[in-house]
Amino acid sequence: MLVKRIQKNGIDLSALAFIPEQTKIPLQRNGMDALPEIAQWRATEPMHKLELPFTFTAFLVTGHDEARTILTDRDSYSNDIRHLFHGDGPATAEDIGGLGFTDPPLHTRLRKIVTPEFTMRRLARLEPMITEFVETQLDALEAEGSGSDLCKAVAFPIPFQTICALLGLDYADRDAFAKLGSDRFDATNGGAAAFGAVSDQRKFLFEAVARQREVPGPGMLGQIIRDEGDAISDFDLAGLADGIFTGGYETTAGMIALGTIVLLQDPAYADLIRNGTPEDVDRVVEELLRYLSVVQVAFPRFAKQDMLLFGQQVKAGDVILASLNGANRDPEAAGERPDEFDPLRVPKSGHLAFGHGIHRCIGAELARMELRIALPLLFRRFPDLALVKPPEDLTFRQLSFVFGVDELPVSF
Ligand code: HEM
Repeated sequence: MLVKRIQKNGIDLSALAFIPEQTKIPLQRNGMDALPEIAQWRATEPMHKLELPFTFTAFLVTGHDEARTILTDRDSYSNDIRHLFHGDGPATAEDIGGLGFTDPPLHTRLRKIVTPEFTMRRLARLEPMITEFVETQLDALEAEGSGSDLCKAVAFPIPFQTICALLGLDYADRDAFAKLGSDRFDATNGGAAAFGAVSDQRKFLFEAVARQREVPGPGMLGQIIRDEGDAISDFDLAGLADGIFTGGYETTAGMIALGTIVLLQDPAYADLIRNGTPEDVDRVVEELLRYLSVVQVAFPRFAKQDMLLFGQQVKAGDVILASLNGANRDPEAAGERPDEFDPLRVPKSGHLAFGHGIHRCIGAELARMELRIALPLLFRRFPDLALVKPPEDLTFRQLSFVFGVDELPVSF
């Protein structure tokens, strides 16, 4: 349905398959690095115009200061993706919802509703559960034996179970649901799978919310229904759940799998995560977040009015994309040798892996908690953990908004 609507509204999805090579660059990698064009654009063109087979104009921002400026400016841009589909018409059940695609004042209201679920106190209650999920999945990896897939046994199930527990979703449809999640960000096949997955996943969440309206569960959905009652619509609640699920699943899974690859590249890194103090573990996790920047570009920002931005004339409706991957490798922020993973790095400015401003990742502390628990336990459980294939033989995601690897055979 959504695909039809987009076509009806003048964006031909089959055109996605013909996106000029230059425009794919922000979503491509050379190993873990951004393509060299990103650094070139950062040095010479603070606003790089992307060639698109659609009628709208898009610019890519690759510098740390520029990206931060855009993410901070809540007045000049809209995140409401409906602009792409049907101008300013009202939202319908087919639309993509969630905090990331919503503007104030609705964004402010919805974010306030979910914020209490992400306080350190609430998250601390999840900690023993996450530790248990990790131990169980490490048992599963061990049982499958040396040579088995770390993504399947560990990297995907940990965030998946964490978010299911956080939301209070039942587990019945978990496999189908997980599958929908992975198609969602993938534009490799022209984007149709991604748009199909969005609507299927939303349908599932609508049904889950409807069930919880009848019998509010113990998790976040039930809590919001108890606190807010009819003050929050099913549409907004399913949208919130959708945003939290997709925001927290592939991102954290990508970080666990890619983080493992990076840490296995040098025995000193593996030793630091295995035997380091909690402060050492924090530093490793922060540097992995910067270095990997798994969310490659922030949510699209739509200019609300004509303006001059970093020397470039922008028209109302133009799309501005902030390359977080580019921003986090900017030497002005990361310091020297930005393309190296260095857990001892003292950056000049904080990384933007979780974004910045009003849309900054609401799950940042939860993600950090999962990584700080999962990575040390993994390396302690398997002291001789190693990759079965060298990194250059692994299949990394191509053209996915969330960078990752879907299969990671490991030996131990
Ligand atoms: C390492 C893992 C993660 C990374 C790298 C990440 C990254 C990001 C980024 C870059 C943004 C905002 C981009 C922008 O301003 O346009 C964002 C927003 C968001 N993230 Fe995360 N995220 C992660 C984990 C999570 C988790 C665990 C959850 C929830 C369980 C979550 C839920 C969200 C939500 C709901 C938003 C939208 C917030 C808003 O618009 O107000 N994320 N995330």
